[in-house]
Amino acid sequence: MDTATEYGRLVIAPREALFAHVVALAEAQRQRRASRHFTWALSGGQTPQDWCRWAAQPGALPPELVAETHFTVSDERMVTLNDAQSNFGNAERLLLSPLGVPREHRHPWVVAYEPAAAAEAYRRTWLILAGPGASYDVCMLGLGDDGHTASFFPGTPLFTDDGGLPFAAVDAGAKGWRLTITPTGLRTCGSIIVMVLGSGKAEALRRVLRGNEEWSQVPAKILATVSDRVTWLVDEAAAARL
Ligand code: 6PG
Repeated sequence: MDTATEYGRLVIAPREALFAHVVALAEAQRQRRASRHFTWALSGGQTPQDWCRWAAQPGALPPELVAETHFTVSDERMVTLNDAQSNFGNAERLLLSPLGVPREHRHPWVVAYEPAAAAEAYRRTWLILAGPGASYDVCMLGLGDDGHTASFFPGTPLFTDDGGLPFAAVDAGAKGWRLTITPTGLRTCGSIIVMVLGSGKAEALRRVLRGNEEWSQVPAKILATVSDRVTWLVDEAAAARL
């Protein structure tokens, strides 16, 4: 199923078809990109890990796409790359290293600095890499059980004021400090892909796409503001309550 919604395009299909769809969306974006280098932010959490394993298989990603892409992650925790909680560390272990992506095409957030300085250092790197006013050509996101996406947790201060900057550090309470793309950053992404898999996400997805709560309580609703570039890739289990 492929339909238009207030929050972007909604594609409901079996996992393997969704995984291949990610590649098609990235390729389409590569053909129309305007930025200096082609950039792709993978998402954090558990959900993308199966996709990474699939994408690391020979032939899953076109070699010319891999060769051209600069990889990063759309949000990060303040942990080192060897930590199992590191989003970029997991992307490296499951995808970038198996594919042989060169060091100069890997762009982790610099977690050695204190959070605000880490976000600023990343912003400067991105300015050089992607050019002024550009964030990611492809931005992958996940959906948390509480309706969060990226590091926009319920009650996030980033919805009131993100400083007009594409990236920020945010205090996520019990989850600690996070580094994340901001609402401003989302507006300059090329293609935004939200992958939602498994029955554990069904209620959160219903609250985003069908519920009437405020954005501040269900932060993924902010994607309505960039719906022209959003594709939701949802498996049948996650779509069960729509
Ligand atoms: C992170 C991201 C988060 C994630 C969703 C889904 O955890 O680093 O901030 O937005 O993409 O919470 O995560 P799961 O797939 O682990 O449920």
